[in-house]
Amino acid sequence: MNLAEYIESHRDAHLKELFEFLRIPSISTQSEHKQDIERAAKWVAEKLRGSGMEKIEIVPTPMHPLVYGESLDVPGKPTVLFYGHYDVQPAEPLDLWTSPAFEPTVRDGNLYARGTADDKGQVHIHLKALEALRNTAGKLPINVKIVIEGEEEVGSESLWDFVQQNKPRLKADALVVSDTAMLTRGVPSITYGLRGLNYYQIEIAGPAQDLHSGVFGGAVPNPLAVLCELFARLHDKNFRVTVPGFYDDVAALSRAERKALHALPWDEKEFRRTVGAPGLCGEKGYSIIEQVWCRPTLELNGIWGGYIDEGSKTVIPAKAYAKFSTRLVPDQDPKKIARLVEKHLRKLLPRTVTCKFELLSTGKPWAAAYSHPIFKKAIHALEQGFGKKAVFIREGGSIPFVTQMHDTFKVPCVLMGFGLPDENAHAPDEHMALENYFGGIRSIAHFYQGLADL
Ligand code: BES
Ligand code: MN
Ligand code: MN
Repeated sequence: MNLAEYIESHRDAHLKELFEFLRIPSISTQSEHKQDIERAAKWVAEKLRGSGMEKIEIVPTPMHPLVYGESLDVPGKPTVLFYGHYDVQPAEPLDLWTSPAFEPTVRDGNLYARGTADDKGQVHIHLKALEALRNTAGKLPINVKIVIEGEEEVGSESLWDFVQQNKPRLKADALVVSDTAMLTRGVPSITYGLRGLNYYQIEIAGPAQDLHSGVFGGAVPNPLAVLCELFARLHDKNFRVTVPGFYDDVAALSRAERKALHALPWDEKEFRRTVGAPGLCGEKGYSIIEQVWCRPTLELNGIWGGYIDEGSKTVIPAKAYAKFSTRLVPDQDPKKIARLVEKHLRKLLPRTVTCKFELLSTGKPWAAAYSHPIFKKAIHALEQGFGKKAVFIREGGSIPFVTQMHDTFKVPCVLMGFGLPDENAHAPDEHMALENYFGGIRSIAHFYQGLADL
């Protein structure tokens, strides 16, 4: 059986196995799912064996374990490091899912479940591509190292130490990742830039305890109101972030890059449809593509405090909370941005409240040249898998490991994503197009095969 036949004849078996993976609610941010995280790590380790990996290890970390495997049987051939994550985002709000988040269901050519596109489906693409290569040729054509972690959705904090302590073990000629999206349906894409991410949480404290708003209201600071006013002041009327120095280190787009990005088959109408809001807003002077891929932002992610249950309760809450984040672009420095943000917030706050400021995670931005010959191999492989020419894109999301690897080893990072922007990653009804899952397996199998003569 040749490679194409193997992949084609195993469609059902592959899907069935992916269903198993998707049924494990490996939500990294919720501690009640710790056992599911362990279960997912074990599942991955077991499947690595089937993909031809040896020396498989479940590596404990201060938070969630990562899974490592390697197959280094072909001396003289290139070595790639494949990275992905088995953890997923929370599924809430559950009532907005058409079918349950952890019960994979196929509808209209799409597979629905939390983690289909981000990132279990994409990790599985690689496992099955490797399996296909091994089972048709007897052994893998190149040397492969694999890291599948369980903390990506919470900032990959433990991974950094693992990388620093295992440099010789992780060294490879290239990093390969499938945790991004295609520009649009039918357009295979290679991502050469990601934004970085700093995640923050603040607690604003006013009165020593909740107060009766009739007895005390009028004379007492309300932490919730203070919080709302604070966030209202973090953008100006042109949607620029008001933190002084925020834009100082932002690298300008070259004319050539801007031209290339704007020549992509990107459709504003489709973008607006996916967003589904009555209108868009964004930093004045920049196109939408630039706003979401190449410009830094500050975004409020959650805000809470006071009374939010049934009916009414007249209260001045003692405390108010917010989670927020900044997306970063080259050449912004996460630590420096965090300092500037904290300083500005403290300056804006009235003396009637106190503020606890926490930096929960940091991640550097990344954008790199794609002139290395491996990118030609990637284009060719995607063409074999999809019958279409690939494009080079940047994206606005963040994958901390990519920058960590790029900074540590200075190797080319090849990001071939098989999700789509409208597949609801992080939202209810997350799904993945089956054509992209199978196209992904074909492409990645060809890619690894083609690397034998890189
Ligand atoms: N797969 C995404 C990153 C991504 C999304 C890249 C869309 C390109 C396009 C990843 O799982 C993710 O969600 N990352 C987080 C960052 C993390 C530090 C919490 C993100 O981007 O919010
Ligand atoms: Mn992901
Ligand atoms: Mn994600």
